[in-house]
Amino acid sequence: MAITVKPMPSGFGAEVSGIDLQEPLNQESYTEIEAALARHGVIFFRNQPLDEAAQEAFIRWFGPPNALARQLNNSRMKNPYFYDVSNIDENGKIMMQEHERRLYLQANLFWHTDMSMRQPPARVTALNAIVLPEENPPNTEFADTRAAWDALPKSRQAELEPLRVVHSVYASRAKVGYTNFNAETRNLLPPSEHPLVRLHAGSGRKCLYIGAHASHIVDMDESEGRALLEELTEFATQPQFRYEHKWQPHDLLVWDDSCTLHRATPFDDQKYRRELRWCSARELEPV
Ligand SMILES: [Fe+2]
Repeated sequence: MAITVKPMPSGFGAEVSGIDLQEPLNQESYTEIEAALARHGVIFFRNQPLDEAAQEAFIRWFGPPNALARQLNNSRMKNPYFYDVSNIDENGKIMMQEHERRLYLQANLFWHTDMSMRQPPARVTALNAIVLPEENPPNTEFADTRAAWDALPKSRQAELEPLRVVHSVYASRAKVGYTNFNAETRNLLPPSEHPLVRLHAGSGRKCLYIGAHASHIVDMDESEGRALLEELTEFATQPQFRYEHKWQPHDLLVWDDSCTLHRATPFDDQKYRRELRWCSARELEPV
Protein backbone atom coordinates (compact mmCIF):
# COMPACT_ATOMS: atom_id res chain seq x y z
CA MET A 1 0.00 0.00 0.00
CA ALA A 2 1.49 3.33 -1.06
CA ILE A 3 1.65 6.34 1.25
CA THR A 4 -0.73 9.10 0.16
CA VAL A 5 -0.41 12.73 1.27
CA LYS A 6 -3.56 14.83 1.02
CA PRO A 7 -2.79 18.49 1.84
CA MET A 8 -5.31 20.91 3.29
CA PRO A 9 -6.41 23.57 0.75
CA SER A 10 -3.96 26.12 2.19
CA GLY A 11 -1.03 23.69 2.04
CA PHE A 12 -0.64 23.95 5.83
CA GLY A 13 -1.58 20.58 7.33
CA ALA A 14 -2.00 17.28 5.48
CA GLU A 15 -3.53 13.85 5.98
CA VAL A 16 -1.15 10.96 5.43
CA SER A 17 -2.72 7.58 4.69
CA GLY A 18 -1.76 4.18 3.36
CA ILE A 19 0.44 3.17 6.27
CA ASP A 20 -0.09 1.19 9.49
CA LEU A 21 2.13 2.76 12.16
CA GLN A 22 1.64 -0.24 14.44
CA GLU A 23 4.18 -1.88 12.13
CA PRO A 24 7.80 -0.63 12.23
CA LEU A 25 8.60 2.11 9.71
CA ASN A 26 11.22 1.54 7.06
CA GLN A 27 13.63 4.15 5.66
CA GLU A 28 11.55 4.72 2.54
CA SER A 29 8.32 5.36 4.46
CA TYR A 30 10.08 7.56 6.99
CA THR A 31 11.60 9.67 4.18
CA GLU A 32 8.14 10.23 2.67
CA ILE A 33 6.64 11.13 6.05
CA GLU A 34 9.50 13.50 6.92
CA ALA A 35 9.09 15.20 3.52
CA ALA A 36 5.33 15.64 4.08
CA LEU A 37 5.99 17.08 7.53
CA ALA A 38 8.68 19.45 6.23
CA ARG A 39 6.33 20.75 3.59
CA HIS A 40 3.00 20.90 5.42
CA GLY A 41 4.13 21.56 9.02
CA VAL A 42 1.38 19.40 10.56
CA ILE A 43 0.38 15.92 9.41
CA PHE A 44 -2.13 13.44 10.73
CA PHE A 45 -2.77 9.73 10.37
CA ARG A 46 -6.27 8.37 11.06
CA ASN A 47 -6.96 5.14 12.91
CA GLN A 48 -3.56 4.48 14.53
CA PRO A 49 -4.26 2.89 17.93
CA LEU A 50 -0.57 2.81 18.91
CA ASP A 51 0.77 1.26 22.08
CA GLU A 52 3.62 3.02 23.89
CA ALA A 53 6.30 0.94 22.16
CA ALA A 54 4.99 1.78 18.68
CA GLN A 55 4.67 5.48 19.46
CA GLU A 56 8.17 5.62 20.92
CA ALA A 57 9.60 3.72 17.92
CA PHE A 58 7.85 6.21 15.60
CA ILE A 59 9.20 9.33 17.33
CA ARG A 60 12.75 7.94 17.44
CA TRP A 61 12.91 8.13 13.65
CA PHE A 62 12.75 11.95 13.99
CA GLY A 63 15.41 12.34 16.69
CA PRO A 64 16.23 11.47 20.30
CA PRO A 65 13.06 11.56 22.41
CA ASN A 66 12.75 14.26 25.07
CA ALA A 67 12.62 12.89 28.60
CA LEU A 68 10.34 14.78 30.95
CA ALA A 69 11.15 16.27 34.32
CA ARG A 70 9.25 13.69 36.39
CA GLN A 71 8.49 15.89 39.35
CA LEU A 72 6.35 18.11 37.11
CA ASN A 73 4.52 15.21 35.60
CA ASN A 74 2.36 13.65 38.28
CA SER A 75 0.84 11.36 35.69
CA ARG A 76 -0.14 7.76 35.11
CA MET A 77 2.54 7.21 32.49
CA LYS A 78 5.74 5.50 33.58
CA ASN A 79 7.72 5.92 30.35
CA PRO A 80 9.82 9.10 30.82
CA TYR A 81 9.28 10.07 27.16
CA PHE A 82 5.49 10.37 27.45
CA TYR A 83 3.34 13.13 28.79
CA ASP A 84 -0.16 12.28 29.93
CA VAL A 85 -2.16 14.95 28.11
CA SER A 86 -5.41 14.10 29.81
CA ASN A 87 -7.90 15.30 32.37
CA ILE A 88 -7.48 12.01 34.26
CA ASP A 89 -5.69 11.80 37.60
CA GLU A 90 -3.21 9.18 38.81
CA ASN A 91 -6.13 7.04 40.07
CA GLY A 92 -7.96 7.03 36.74
CA LYS A 93 -10.61 9.59 37.76
CA ILE A 94 -11.47 12.92 36.12
CA MET A 95 -9.22 15.54 37.75
CA MET A 96 -10.90 17.96 40.10
CA GLN A 97 -10.72 21.61 39.13
CA GLU A 98 -7.97 22.33 41.67
CA HIS A 99 -5.74 19.36 40.64
CA GLU A 100 -2.14 20.52 40.16
CA ARG A 101 -1.65 18.91 36.73
CA ARG A 102 -4.93 20.38 35.51
CA LEU A 103 -3.69 23.86 36.33
CA TYR A 104 -0.31 23.07 34.77
CA LEU A 105 -1.94 21.89 31.52
CA GLN A 106 -4.10 25.03 31.32
CA ALA A 107 -1.00 26.75 29.90
CA ASN A 108 -1.50 24.63 26.75
CA LEU A 109 -4.47 26.87 25.93
CA PHE A 110 -1.94 29.58 25.01
CA TRP A 111 -0.22 29.51 21.63
CA HIS A 112 3.14 27.81 22.18
CA THR A 113 5.69 25.48 20.69
CA ASP A 114 6.68 22.41 22.68
CA MET A 115 9.84 22.40 24.76
CA SER A 116 11.12 25.74 23.46
CA MET A 117 12.44 26.32 26.98
CA ARG A 118 15.04 23.60 26.37
CA GLN A 119 18.32 23.64 24.54
CA PRO A 120 18.16 21.86 22.14
CA PRO A 121 14.37 22.27 21.89
CA ALA A 122 11.81 19.83 20.49
CA ARG A 123 11.75 19.44 16.71
CA VAL A 124 8.81 17.07 16.21
CA THR A 125 5.86 16.14 18.45
CA ALA A 126 3.57 13.11 18.06
CA LEU A 127 0.24 13.09 19.91
CA ASN A 128 -1.97 9.98 19.85
CA ALA A 129 -5.66 10.20 20.73
CA ILE A 130 -6.70 7.41 23.06
CA VAL A 131 -10.05 8.66 24.43
CA LEU A 132 -11.97 11.72 23.21
CA PRO A 133 -15.14 13.35 24.55
CA GLU A 134 -18.18 11.74 22.87
CA GLU A 135 -19.59 15.19 22.17
CA ASN A 136 -17.69 18.09 20.60
CA PRO A 137 -14.11 16.95 21.15
CA PRO A 138 -12.02 20.12 21.29
CA ASN A 139 -9.86 20.96 18.28
CA THR A 140 -6.11 21.54 18.47
CA GLU A 141 -5.18 24.67 16.55
CA PHE A 142 -1.95 25.31 14.65
CA ALA A 143 -0.36 28.36 13.06
CA ASP A 144 2.32 28.35 10.36
CA THR A 145 5.07 30.76 11.41
CA ARG A 146 6.75 30.43 7.99
CA ALA A 147 3.68 31.89 6.29
CA ALA A 148 3.52 34.57 8.99
CA TRP A 149 7.17 35.46 8.39
CA ASP A 150 6.59 35.67 4.62
CA ALA A 151 3.69 38.09 5.25
CA LEU A 152 5.82 40.58 7.22
CA PRO A 153 7.14 43.65 5.38
CA LYS A 154 10.81 43.37 4.43
CA SER A 155 11.72 46.34 6.66
CA ARG A 156 10.11 44.62 9.66
CA GLN A 157 11.86 41.36 8.86
CA ALA A 158 15.20 43.16 8.89
CA GLU A 159 14.48 44.63 12.35
CA LEU A 160 13.44 41.26 13.77
CA GLU A 161 16.11 39.04 12.28
CA PRO A 162 18.98 39.80 14.72
CA LEU A 163 16.87 39.46 17.89
CA ARG A 164 17.27 36.67 20.42
CA VAL A 165 14.60 35.43 22.82
CA VAL A 166 14.70 33.86 26.28
CA HIS A 167 12.27 30.93 26.64
CA SER A 168 11.27 29.73 30.10
CA VAL A 169 8.69 27.31 31.45
CA TYR A 170 8.23 29.70 34.38
CA ALA A 171 7.02 32.41 31.99
CA SER A 172 4.31 30.21 30.44
CA ARG A 173 3.15 28.70 33.74
CA ALA A 174 3.02 32.09 35.45
CA LYS A 175 0.32 32.99 32.91
CA VAL A 176 -2.02 30.46 34.56
CA GLY A 177 -0.84 31.18 38.10
CA TYR A 178 1.29 28.03 38.42
CA THR A 179 4.48 28.76 40.32
CA ASN A 180 5.00 25.52 42.26
CA PHE A 181 8.54 24.77 41.08
CA ASN A 182 11.12 23.61 43.60
CA ALA A 183 14.86 24.36 43.50
CA GLU A 184 15.63 20.94 41.99
CA THR A 185 13.29 21.63 39.09
CA ARG A 186 14.67 25.11 38.59
CA ASN A 187 18.15 23.57 38.28
CA LEU A 188 16.87 20.96 35.83
CA LEU A 189 14.98 23.41 33.64
CA PRO A 190 16.93 26.64 33.28
CA PRO A 191 15.66 29.16 30.68
CA SER A 192 17.14 28.90 27.15
CA GLU A 193 17.98 31.46 24.53
CA HIS A 194 17.02 31.02 20.85
CA PRO A 195 16.91 33.23 17.77
CA LEU A 196 13.59 34.96 17.10
CA VAL A 197 13.89 34.05 13.44
CA ARG A 198 14.93 30.57 12.40
CA LEU A 199 15.73 28.94 9.11
CA HIS A 200 13.45 25.91 8.84
CA ALA A 201 15.82 23.23 7.59
CA GLY A 202 13.15 21.02 6.00
CA SER A 203 11.71 23.69 3.71
CA GLY A 204 14.53 26.25 3.49
CA ARG A 205 12.05 28.92 4.64
CA LYS A 206 12.46 31.39 7.49
CA CYS A 207 10.02 31.35 10.40
CA LEU A 208 9.25 33.04 13.70
CA TYR A 209 10.15 31.08 16.82
CA ILE A 210 7.89 32.42 19.57
CA GLY A 211 5.03 31.18 21.81
CA ALA A 212 4.02 31.16 25.44
CA HIS A 213 7.42 30.03 26.76
CA ALA A 214 9.02 33.08 25.13
CA SER A 215 9.64 35.28 28.12
CA HIS A 216 11.52 38.33 26.89
CA ILE A 217 13.98 39.60 24.30
CA VAL A 218 17.70 39.77 24.99
CA ASP A 219 19.05 43.33 25.39
CA MET A 220 15.57 44.86 25.26
CA ASP A 221 13.52 46.33 28.08
CA GLU A 222 11.49 43.37 29.46
CA SER A 223 8.04 44.89 29.06
CA GLU A 224 8.89 46.20 25.61
CA GLY A 225 10.16 42.75 24.62
CA ARG A 226 7.02 41.05 25.96
CA ALA A 227 4.82 43.48 24.05
CA LEU A 228 6.72 42.69 20.85
CA LEU A 229 6.37 38.93 21.44
CA GLU A 230 2.63 39.33 22.04
CA GLU A 231 2.23 41.43 18.92
CA LEU A 232 4.10 38.83 16.82
CA THR A 233 2.05 35.96 18.28
CA GLU A 234 -1.16 37.79 17.44
CA PHE A 235 0.11 38.44 13.92
CA ALA A 236 1.31 34.86 13.36
CA THR A 237 -1.91 33.21 14.55
CA GLN A 238 -4.33 35.05 12.29
CA PRO A 239 -6.91 32.76 10.68
CA GLN A 240 -5.17 32.73 7.28
CA PHE A 241 -2.13 31.04 8.84
CA ARG A 242 -4.06 28.37 10.73
CA TYR A 243 -4.96 24.70 10.56
CA GLU A 244 -7.52 23.42 13.08
CA HIS A 245 -7.32 19.71 13.75
CA LYS A 246 -10.67 18.00 14.35
CA TRP A 247 -9.80 14.91 16.32
CA GLN A 248 -11.05 11.39 15.71
CA PRO A 249 -10.27 8.49 18.08
CA HIS A 250 -6.81 6.97 17.41
CA ASP A 251 -5.55 9.89 15.33
CA LEU A 252 -1.81 10.33 15.40
CA LEU A 253 -1.12 14.03 14.99
CA VAL A 254 2.46 15.01 14.21
CA TRP A 255 3.86 18.52 13.93
CA ASP A 256 7.09 20.37 13.37
CA ASP A 257 7.77 22.46 16.47
CA SER A 258 10.35 24.65 14.81
CA CYS A 259 7.97 26.36 12.36
CA THR A 260 4.53 26.10 13.97
CA LEU A 261 2.61 27.28 17.01
CA HIS A 262 -0.26 25.32 18.53
CA ARG A 263 -2.79 25.52 21.31
CA ALA A 264 -5.40 23.34 22.94
CA THR A 265 -9.00 24.56 23.07
CA PRO A 266 -11.31 24.21 26.08
CA PHE A 267 -13.94 21.52 26.65
CA ASP A 268 -16.14 20.39 29.51
CA ASP A 269 -13.31 18.66 31.38
CA GLN A 270 -15.42 18.03 34.48
CA LYS A 271 -17.84 15.89 32.44
CA TYR A 272 -15.92 14.15 29.63
CA ARG A 273 -12.70 12.14 29.54
CA ARG A 274 -10.00 13.20 27.10
CA GLU A 275 -6.79 11.18 27.01
CA LEU A 276 -3.92 11.74 24.62
CA ARG A 277 -0.36 10.46 24.73
CA TRP A 278 2.36 12.99 23.91
CA CYS A 279 6.00 12.50 23.01
CA SER A 280 8.54 14.56 21.11
CA ALA A 281 11.93 14.32 19.43
CA ARG A 282 14.53 17.00 19.93
CA GLU A 283 16.77 18.89 17.57
CA LEU A 284 20.19 17.25 17.21
CA GLU A 285 22.06 20.55 17.69
CA PRO A 286 21.45 23.58 19.93
CA VAL A 287 19.26 26.23 18.29
FE1 LIG B 1 1.96 21.62 23.25
